[in-house]
Amino acid sequence: MKSPSKIEKQMKILLAYSGGLDTSVAIHWLKEKYGCEVVAVTIDVGQSDDLKEAMRRAKAIGASRAWVIDAKKEFAENYVLPALKANALYEGSYPLGTALARPLMVERLVAMARRFGADAIAHGCTGKGNDQVRFEVSIMALAPELDILAPTREWGMSRDEEIEYAKAHDIPVPVTCEAPYSIDESVWSRAIECGVLEDPWNEPPESIFEWTNGTDSSPNEPEYVDIGFCEGSPISLNGSAMEPLELVTELNEIAGNHGVGRIDHIENRLVGIKSREVYEAPAALVLTKAHQDLESLVMPRDLMHYKRGMEQHYANLVYDGLWFSPLRQAMDAFIEKTQKNVTGTIKIKLFKGSAVVVGRESPYSLYTANLSTYEKSDEFDHAAAKGFIYVWGLPLKTTSMVNSVKNGNGVMNGSAVKEEFTSACK
Ligand code: ARG
Repeated sequence: MKSPSKIEKQMKILLAYSGGLDTSVAIHWLKEKYGCEVVAVTIDVGQSDDLKEAMRRAKAIGASRAWVIDAKKEFAENYVLPALKANALYEGSYPLGTALARPLMVERLVAMARRFGADAIAHGCTGKGNDQVRFEVSIMALAPELDILAPTREWGMSRDEEIEYAKAHDIPVPVTCEAPYSIDESVWSRAIECGVLEDPWNEPPESIFEWTNGTDSSPNEPEYVDIGFCEGSPISLNGSAMEPLELVTELNEIAGNHGVGRIDHIENRLVGIKSREVYEAPAALVLTKAHQDLESLVMPRDLMHYKRGMEQHYANLVYDGLWFSPLRQAMDAFIEKTQKNVTGTIKIKLFKGSAVVVGRESPYSLYTANLSTYEKSDEFDHAAAKGFIYVWGLPLKTTSMVNSVKNGNGVMNGSAVKEEFTSACK
């Protein structure tokens, strides 16, 4: 018997459903435009939204099925940890919560698409953001056979028109859609855009922050936290062993309480636009600082400098949607190798918005007291420095001597030297 072709069978679209206005409208719009079946899938990476409610909403709007997949643990272990080991901060500021979540979402969506025999994956990203790139490039990498649909890029409706469309078609719009901000959350960071933040001169209003206290409301006493690392991964908080997800969640609470983790960033998007982004990322900032500090203690100078040079490249690559590239995988293999001795404890002091490393220890510490000390126990061979400096400075000394003979003592000036060489070349 001939198997049905795509045209004969009803097309099936898997929609990455966030529960917000865009993807809610998309369920209806896709069904209307393509006469297709829409399966809604929400990947939980730590959004604080009520995802069960979102699932009910998807079905009410017309999705044939709606799923919520809890991917928080995998996110923390397979996406956040490699980024932490790379000390990945985009433009030195943004810990990449959104950018890291998209490839994970795609990994799960592709698995679901294959399970349901879907023909296409649809997403709700707009045409001027980074997320469309991350979604689509990741789908292209993992499932080149699947079609990709981006309804919000196609339909050309403004936000108000979308709300009108929703009203006209009885689409229940979540109340939060009326809020002036666009929020994206994962356990690694909370991003806030739009509204008054669009003017870079406006100070972010206190009301946008949910994970962090302002300095007025944060405790008046400092708090110390010990973070234990094993081979580059954080494994304990104040001596209690924890899984990465639990540790990040707990540290978000502790550091956020002290007002740590706010970021106000004028960001260069991949699509050529500058945007003003405000983030809350208490655990990400504290862990990155702690991890970097531990590396300083245990890594030889050349390795650490080389790795630091690579970290910006790594962050750009994640930001730019290239998580599934061979380059990222090769960099991760290198970075993993560098983490062998990144084991130890970092003591952090949290107080009124600041997180400062105030202590560090490691069985692999390269800090050698008898070499560093200025006390009697000093074992450094001071006399050896003389020969070292002779060799180290020799190229500069030679250059300087030649220049002073040719220019400095009046024997020849710069143009005379040039003339001599030019005529020698003739
Ligand atoms: N600017 C950040 C990024 O590109 C966060 C974007 C937040 N995304 C969103 N859909 N609101 O990764």
